[in-house]
Amino acid sequence: MGTCFYLAHASGLSYLPNQGIPMLSKSQARIFFLGGTGVFTAIFLALTWDSMRQIPKLTNDDKITPEVARGKELWEANNCMGCHTLFGEGAYYAPELTKVVERRGKPWIKLFIQDPQKMFPGERKMVKYNFDGRQIDDLIAFLEWCGEVDLQGFPPKPPLQNQLKPTATTSDLSGPPAPELFKTICQACHMVGGVGGVIGPALDEVHKRKSKEELLEWIADPQRLKPGSAMPQIDMTPEQREEIVTWLLGLSNTSPRPAGQLKPISQPEIYE
Ligand code: HEC
Ligand code: HEC
Repeated sequence: MGTCFYLAHASGLSYLPNQGIPMLSKSQARIFFLGGTGVFTAIFLALTWDSMRQIPKLTNDDKITPEVARGKELWEANNCMGCHTLFGEGAYYAPELTKVVERRGKPWIKLFIQDPQKMFPGERKMVKYNFDGRQIDDLIAFLEWCGEVDLQGFPPKPPLQNQLKPTATTSDLSGPPAPELFKTICQACHMVGGVGGVIGPALDEVHKRKSKEELLEWIADPQRLKPGSAMPQIDMTPEQREEIVTWLLGLSNTSPRPAGQLKPISQPEIYE
């Protein structure tokens, strides 16, 4: 206590009469207030200026093409944020979309927006908007631009993501890896090696059902061969079709039975 008193005295503070409690004089209070306000305003302005200076770089200003701008208008006009978050802003009904292009790939998103129910029949519903092709491209351009903004680590990647990659026990497949397009689009609906969706048939043994020509023809335009089929027409170059079909046919040389699927039970083998 004695030391306190001494320090207060030494620093030139005055005291309430007769009580020994140090306090600021009016002019000291004014200097204190004005000085403090000045210093912190300066720091605030400097940091604001620094942030503003970085925004064009962090947001890739130069990549805001007319498509990106139109996509943003569609995003706003159709209230996508009523269900989704973007940069963490919005509603929590549907997935966060900042990194959706990286996560799903453009061809998948295009198909999905054309007809969300086809990708996930009977599940939570995303609105079917009836956008035309250009509008969908604009939306994807906008989402792609969003995904490239430097958000300094947002949204965080799930820490276990790498451990969640399928291991040998979930897939029986040896042999060459699936083409990229197969993994991003086809596998949403088809299983191979026990991994994938169940909207279409598993494709492990499709080589027994269809010839190369039939496969190429089917994949090029399922709707023409079977109008109303749940398999949509998918934009692909002839090279991509060839690559996928060659790979599918190559599955005959690898393990034929998908691990995740039950072998159909007919007669017990003992009676055969
Ligand atoms: C009524 C709510 C709702 C609105 C509005 C909505 N969505 Fe969705 N969206 C969903 C739901 C639900 C899903 C998840 C589908 C599922 O998993 O079954 C989804 C999924 C998506 C996906 C795929 C995300 C992923 O990682 O699987 C994209 C892309 C997408 N929406 C884009 C949009 C765009 C663009 C708009 C605006 C034009 C929009 N959504 C408006 C409900 C909505
Ligand atoms: C939205 C879901 C969906 C997607 C995406 C999809 N398919 Fe299909 N696919 C189906 C359905 C459903 C069938 C069954 C066709 C029918 O009877 O209408 C099918 C049938 C097939 C068949 C014939 C299978 C057989 O047993 O004869 C092949 C081959 C095939 N798909 C390949 C592909 C390839 C390759 C891709 C990616 C480029 C793909 N599919 C993407 C849903 C899908």
